[in-house]
Amino acid sequence: MAETAELILDGKSITLPVIEGTEHEKAFDIGKLRDQTGYVTLDSGYKNTGATKSAITFLDGEEGILRYRGYPIEQLAEKSSFLEVAYLLIYGALPTKAELDNFSGQITKHTLVHEDMRKIFDGFPSATHPMAILSSLICALTGFYPQSVSPDLGPEEMELNIIRLLAKMPTIAAWTYKNNMGHPLNYPRNDMDYCANFLYMMFSFPTEKYEINPVVVSALNKLLILHADHEQNCSTSTVRLVGSANASLYGSVSAGINALWGPLHGGANQEVIEMLEAIEKDGGDTSKFIAKAKDKNDSFRLMGFGHRVYKNFDPRAKIIKVAADEVLQALGMQDSPLLKIAQELEQAALTDQYFIERKLYPNVDFYSGIIYKALGIPTEMFTVMFALGRLPGWIAQWKEMRENKEPIGRPRQIYTGELERDYTTIDAR
Ligand code: MLT
Repeated sequence: MAETAELILDGKSITLPVIEGTEHEKAFDIGKLRDQTGYVTLDSGYKNTGATKSAITFLDGEEGILRYRGYPIEQLAEKSSFLEVAYLLIYGALPTKAELDNFSGQITKHTLVHEDMRKIFDGFPSATHPMAILSSLICALTGFYPQSVSPDLGPEEMELNIIRLLAKMPTIAAWTYKNNMGHPLNYPRNDMDYCANFLYMMFSFPTEKYEINPVVVSALNKLLILHADHEQNCSTSTVRLVGSANASLYGSVSAGINALWGPLHGGANQEVIEMLEAIEKDGGDTSKFIAKAKDKNDSFRLMGFGHRVYKNFDPRAKIIKVAADEVLQALGMQDSPLLKIAQELEQAALTDQYFIERKLYPNVDFYSGIIYKALGIPTEMFTVMFALGRLPGWIAQWKEMRENKEPIGRPRQIYTGELERDYTTIDAR
């Protein structure tokens, strides 16, 4: 007998089907609630509302579990590569060697962007934030590949659009940085793998030989893997909602980039490093800033702590913290004052009842900025790095939504405005 829930409304009993996922999460299916009762549900921020059924990522906020297509991120971060994880998320299985070689070979073939994109760069004021440029240029891909706008793409065209996006976003991201710095743009190198090529495009100069540092490449691989998907977070929900209107993949991802830019979402990694730098500039007294964070009359808040769904710890933060120590050690930066400040703040968050009671422990953004800074990535590019990592997740979720033929997303509301009233002419107001 299928499980159901009973809702008693206005003396009537309504039976709601209960659905259970493969990890035994349960939901009431309220798909017919308004038709049956005239009621809608209200859940500001959707904390208790499932928007969809998905087979891509499972996370357990209480146990600190995160798996991509069933594989624990701890194993993927240690053993896999970012492109292999991208393939896993998008196509649902780990690739064979031949499949991975073909996938990465296709991506390598498409890393170049149309030369006319350089003209678009020139139109941005130098103070433009890289996320604004990135979202604009990803949407501009619809201009270079008009067929990508069609809602009736065949599998081959869908595949080509996916490959183009995965291949060109690193080039666009690196060119955004070089353009903002006034440096010559670097063209992608087909003899380099995904992460090495990105670092080359970001940091090489025509005037000198750029040495690829395997420690940096490995750290970047790990960071991108850990950011690759996170079920129905704000930016992914944005990509799905925009895509549900039959908007193109490029347009939907462009919208997701703007959602990720928000300081409460992907923009938090930039806020964390700016907080650490402010503490360092102020003399590095973390106890002073911990007291400020606890003072309800003080507007200072610790960035990079707590999470909407993780109730005890963010499993990604644990992995990134170890990677931060390793990278800084390997780069001879183990005495980084920012790392010391971060470790003191973390220690306070893990031991001080004030933070424990509020479940304020380091999240994925807390240590990632320290690694990005050690890798030489400028602060304003941190959220662009988050977007690079999250791209395969956005693509996978958009593709799943389309393949499942999900309806256009159109939430309802409870109206709290004026009752009906008649128009008055301006001289009568
Ligand atoms: C993410 O990875 O998207 C962030 O942790 C935010 C979230 O999941 O809500």
